[in-house]
Amino acid sequence: AVGLAATVGIGATSGSAAAVEVEEPAQWTEEMAAEIERTEENTAPYLDEDPTQIAEEAGYWVWDTWPLRNRDGSIAVIDGWQIIFSLVADKSHPAIEVPGDRHNYARVGYFYSRTGKSEGPNGWQFGGEVFDEDAFLGNQTWAGSAMYDQDEEQIYHFYTAADALPEARQRLALAKGATVETGPQDVTVTESESHHILAEADGEMYEQLEDSSGIITAFRDPWYFKHPETGEDWMIFEGNTPTENDNPNSPLNYNGNIGAAKATNEDLTEWELKPPIFEAVGVSQQTERPHFVFHEDKWYLFFITHEFTYAPQLWSDGGRFEKEGEPPGPEALHGFAADGLYDSEMEPLNGSSLVVANPEKAPFQTYSWLAMPHGKDSIVESFVNFQDVDTLGLPGDELKEAFGGTLAPSLKVDIDGTDTSITTELKDGQFPASIGARSRGNGNN
Ligand code: FRU
Repeated sequence: AVGLAATVGIGATSGSAAAVEVEEPAQWTEEMAAEIERTEENTAPYLDEDPTQIAEEAGYWVWDTWPLRNRDGSIAVIDGWQIIFSLVADKSHPAIEVPGDRHNYARVGYFYSRTGKSEGPNGWQFGGEVFDEDAFLGNQTWAGSAMYDQDEEQIYHFYTAADALPEARQRLALAKGATVETGPQDVTVTESESHHILAEADGEMYEQLEDSSGIITAFRDPWYFKHPETGEDWMIFEGNTPTENDNPNSPLNYNGNIGAAKATNEDLTEWELKPPIFEAVGVSQQTERPHFVFHEDKWYLFFITHEFTYAPQLWSDGGRFEKEGEPPGPEALHGFAADGLYDSEMEPLNGSSLVVANPEKAPFQTYSWLAMPHGKDSIVESFVNFQDVDTLGLPGDELKEAFGGTLAPSLKVDIDGTDTSITTELKDGQFPASIGARSRGNGNN
């Protein structure tokens, strides 16, 4: 384990009041995982209508999605337009035979809308891919986050530069210099000017590919944020903690963590790796797309994880490779409440950390939830994964048809201290700025 107590100064003249205390990473324990249970509060409604296919005309699949946000984390509205970025793949690509193949051809695409919703003539319009095919780093681009600097009028695209599968070595990357051009009918996100690698797994705090026998070793999904107390530029991301893992079925091989890094220059092209803030060793190999929602002095840490990435001893048959038992938890969004960036005592929401689960009759319905603040609620969006699970396991075209590949209806989730509950299913993929001014009433809508 890493992360001995230490103080990270933010410049010679700043006092300790403006410094970030590095603590031991918080732990996702087996005891917490044993508490996981679907309840009325955490189970998403069954999707019984086909959601709007936002990239239908262009023929693209859509999955992990993030909004363009200002430096302070609020959603950017530029001349009345909102912009979202998604991982997209050309549905007709000859090498994509089953939906899982899309990861090797993932690109970042963008959508714009005046309403910030999927449906209707003013719903999300597909603008195209954001990076030139020869410009981005890696073989394909995986998830990230996007920050708009209002003064510089440029987008900072944080993304994962991933090499080709099966190993898919991942690095954290930044593309700079894109601008947003708005017109009465449309929006253009221009090509970025430069691409930079910001961080790579160091082998000490973050496991490198060579040392891992896990399932797709992670160093991905950079999520930028301005530290609300110190004003520093930070990011968190998905990593793995180095462990002794010579036996691939060992719980120690299920070693997901959530990493942190701090920018050391104003251009945000240089970053220093910090110890992880969170570890799931012996519980789950993947803690994907980690992000924070700042709400009432608390730091709410959210991440997503799959059934198949839970450690083998937690399955009902004691080994996931048997594929016969039940996993300890569903495909889900998990959350913890913390008092700061590092808080080794952060508390699992709802006792078990389970915040949004797919319904039992459609366990793979949606995935890749992202929580965004909205008054006393959070708005949680995700994408439609498999619409009809009965067809799961079928090869080729049938499996392709079962894959939804568009935004799922967003959910409103009420947060009250360490309790959450899903209060409303919005009609379609919606983002907080589309729901009007932030209101702090106590009603559900
Ligand atoms: C989550 C995820 C991310 C990754 C992307 C790859 O759905 O696994 O962690 O960046 O998908 O497609």
